[in-house]
Amino acid sequence: MSARFEFRGLVAGYGGTTILRGIAGAVAAGEVLFVLGRNGVGKSTLMKALMGFLPCREGAVRLDGREIGGLAPPERRRAGITYCPQERAVFDELSVADNLFLTAPPGAAARLAPLAERFPILARRREQRAGTLSGGEKKILSFVRGAIEDHSLVLLDEPTEGVQAENIERMEAVVREQCAAGTAFVVVEQNLAMAERLADRWLVLDKGQVVAEGSGRPERAAIIAHIQV
Ligand SMILES: Nc1ncnc2c1ncn2[C@@H]1O[C@H](COP(=O)(O)OP(=O)(O)OP(=O)(O)O)[C@@H](O)[C@H]1O
Ligand SMILES: [Mg+2]
Repeated sequence: MSARFEFRGLVAGYGGTTILRGIAGAVAAGEVLFVLGRNGVGKSTLMKALMGFLPCREGAVRLDGREIGGLAPPERRRAGITYCPQERAVFDELSVADNLFLTAPPGAAARLAPLAERFPILARRREQRAGTLSGGEKKILSFVRGAIEDHSLVLLDEPTEGVQAENIERMEAVVREQCAAGTAFVVVEQNLAMAERLADRWLVLDKGQVVAEGSGRPERAAIIAHIQV
């Protein structure tokens, strides 16, 4: 595989505590890599490390062959990475429209039009403060904000948490379309059904390490064997 994005030997944590203990993974252009695992195993910590919010004590991160492990989050963003975090995914004090466009690159408005049709909630709540949205609606806003950036790599941390089934289907359709256009995704999910439908690669974390991995759609039984508490 020629990797759009790869990470190797990542070691990171908070203060004196080590959470990630040598994690590796890779994803090609047009592929979705799922990061699975039960609560508290380090999935979000990995995403923060990949975006540069958490410095790694060891390891390498490469985007299109370029080492980016030393770059701060804004620089990784400029290099072409979009990050939709699990927590505090939107600016509560800003309107839905400002959340979408405050940091959007040129051309984002045109890219929003088909997405706004798919997710009518965004147009209906356009002028409303994002803090008034439900948890699932905030996830949709964050997902769409990321989608209109049109970057080469998108990191999604639990994008479907609290999102209704019909909107999960719409998110999946967007991911498929963007993959077809060459975007790569790394997706953290508790939603195994989504991984079964979308994954080109997957890995399961436990206690900050990769305990299982594979390519193609994962077998539910193989995943569950590694996820059970
Ligand atoms: N800011 C922080 N400071 C200290 N410890 C943290 C911090 N954030 C997370 N941790 C700890 O790191 C470990 C991994 O947390 P992380 O959020 O990465 O797990 P997760 O796999 O994303 O869990 P979940 O499925 O619940 O989102 C946990 O033990 C957690 O308590
Ligand atoms: Mg998490």
